[in-house]
Order: sequence, then structure tokens, then C-alpha cells
Amino acid sequence: MNTEYQKITGNPAEDEAAISRAAQIIRAGGLVAIPTETVYGLAGSALIPESALKIYEAKGRPADNPLIVHIAAPADAAKIAYPNALYDRLAARFMPGPLTVILKKRDIIPPTVTAGLDTVAIRCPSNSVAHRLIAVSGHPIAAPSANRSGVPSPTSAEHVRADMDGRIDMILDGGECEIGLESTVIRLDGDDACTILRPGAVTADMLAAVCREVTVSPAAVEPSLADDEHPESPGMKYKHYAPKANVILIDADESVFLRYVREHGTGRYGVLVPNEDAGYFPEGVLLLTGSRGDAKEYARRLFSLLRRADEMRLETVFAKLPPKTDEYLALYNRIIRAAGCRILKISG
Ligand code: TXA
Ligand code: MG
Repeated sequence: MNTEYQKITGNPAEDEAAISRAAQIIRAGGLVAIPTETVYGLAGSALIPESALKIYEAKGRPADNPLIVHIAAPADAAKIAYPNALYDRLAARFMPGPLTVILKKRDIIPPTVTAGLDTVAIRCPSNSVAHRLIAVSGHPIAAPSANRSGVPSPTSAEHVRADMDGRIDMILDGGECEIGLESTVIRLDGDDACTILRPGAVTADMLAAVCREVTVSPAAVEPSLADDEHPESPGMKYKHYAPKANVILIDADESVFLRYVREHGTGRYGVLVPNEDAGYFPEGVLLLTGSRGDAKEYARRLFSLLRRADEMRLETVFAKLPPKTDEYLALYNRIIRAAGCRILKISG
């Protein structure tokens, strides 16, 4: 199949034409990769059962891993699911934005979209291209991350092209994603409690502003549970986000980490370090994560750096285990999976 490529240029007439064309493809049951504020999504109609099957096929994704359904306005959730009072408070505060809420689904959403579950994951993206496409198509849109299953999610149209060229109808290039990690996925436990199944840019502390009790699912943050056979969010069970290089994740103080990599880094290796530590290593091995302590910049760059490691044909990538704090939790969750959930603990 020939994959059509359209750049969003900022010219209103051209962009509207590209989006109309994409909307037409969606309504006809085809697939379009679209930018969102988190990562690129592989979009198909959530009302056409075959579209979901095409998505699984293009990604090489196991069909037991349900898709997120994207809507144009928070209130549209009521057309496809059964929102409660907590959903309304969350929507008022965090939507549009990087939050996905799991609700009991209505029959209009076919089982192929939810992998047979009676719930549906709902998200209202803030990216203007994604928003416009959903609105113009008139369909809710099923969209997992637009990568081949298992590898890091795409944060640029180039990444999408590398994975999906020839497998989908169209790529809309909206530039680089602002956030760089996928949305926070939560389950609602009644009207005043929720559980984070996948940490993202909307953190537990932020959710606590509208929800009395916020729990983080142990499977999201315990390496030993990440490969559990029956996780609640099926997407969390696979080895995920992994480059071809072997990611060696080290739990140690900064200085111990730097010394370990200097002693053990041989052959084709790379190291994820903040800009301030660039001087410790030769130029060719640096995978710079931004200024020290800037969790948002690190998040924006992580997947792109893991993909770059493969472009550089690195065999090993060393990374320091991020803290398990509120602002680093999404990074922690992704990086332990990129490392196949193995952590090397080294004490000073
Ligand atoms: O930021 C994002 O969420 C991106 C952009 C494109 O919107 N999408 C994304 O989709 O990351 P995906 O398919 O790569 O991840 C969806 C996650 C998976 O971990 C899946 O298991 C979980 O959401 N999920 C989807 N539906 C679910 C459901 N009904 N119950 C529990 N977990 C669900
Ligand atoms: Mg994904």
C-alpha cells in the first residue's frame, strides 16, 4: 500500500484540506497516523469493527490489548460509555489533555476495539490536529500509539514513517510531540477514588485535587509485577518500549552510576545522562536527556533517544534508574519496561 504523507504547515486552507482527506479515510475504514500531545497515534474509526482489526494488523499487536477511543469533547463520552460524577470532575480539570479514563462501554463500540472487555478507555486529546480530525470525521477514533508493537512509541512523523510506511493509508506530520510519553490511564473506583494503571503527565498529585483517594497500581511501578500474567491494563504486560539495544538500568547514586559506566562501557554503548554530565563521556556515546532535574524534558526525549540508540546500532544503553517520585513516575514506568524489568543495584 502507498502511504500518503501530509505535513501540517500552519497554512489554514492547506491544513484543513489535509485533515478533511484524513477524515474521509477514517470514515471509509482506513488508517491515518496523527500527532497528539503525548505520542503519535494510529487512528481508525472506533465505530467500524474492521478498522480495529486493521490497527492490530498494522502494529503487529496482540489482539487482547484494547485500544483507546479518542473523542472531540469530554461530553461525547456519554455517547460511547457511562460516565459518572468523578468523570465529570476529571474532565473539567484535565480534558482536553493527557488523561485516559476507563468507563463501562455502550454497545455502539464494537468488541474488536476493546478486545472483548466491557469497558472502554476514553481520551480527549488537546493537540489541535487530533482534535480537528476527530471533529471533522464525526467518528470517535480508536488510536493506539503508532509504533510497531513492542518498540518505543513515535514522537515524530519520522518515527511513524520508519515503522508504518506502506502499512497504513496516511501520515499527518504535525511536528514533534510536546509531552513524549503516553497518557495517564486510570480506572474509576466509584465517585471519589481512582487507580492509575499507567502513569503519565497527569500525575497522582494532580489527580488528588479532584479525587479523594488516588492509588497507583502496583503493576505500574513494581518491576517484579510488570510481567504479571493478569494485569488490569493488558498493555502493561508486554516487554515494551524496548530498543534493540540491551538497556542496562542501574539503581545507584549519581557518582556511582557514572563510575560504573566509565568502567563497564565498552564496544557500541550509549549512556542516558543529563546535559551537565556530558563531560564524563566521549561525544559518540551521549544520549542527552536535558538539564538535570528536568523530568518533562527527559520525558519528551526518552523514546526519541531509544530510537536513536538503534539508529546508531548500539548494543548497550546504560541508564540510571529514575526516582519513583510523582513527577518521574511515568519515566520510571517506561524505562523499567525498556530494560525488560531488570534493575542492577549497585551500592557505593
Ligand atoms: O497517549 C496515549 O494514550 C496514546 C495516544 C495516541 O493517545 N495512545 C496510547 O495507546 O498510548 P496504546 O494503545 O499504546 O495504550 C493503551 C493502553 C494500553 O496499556 C491498554 O492496555 C490500556 O491503555 N487500555 C485500553 N483500554 C483499556 C481498558 N478497557 N481497560 C484497561 N486498560 C485499557
Ligand atoms: Mg503503545
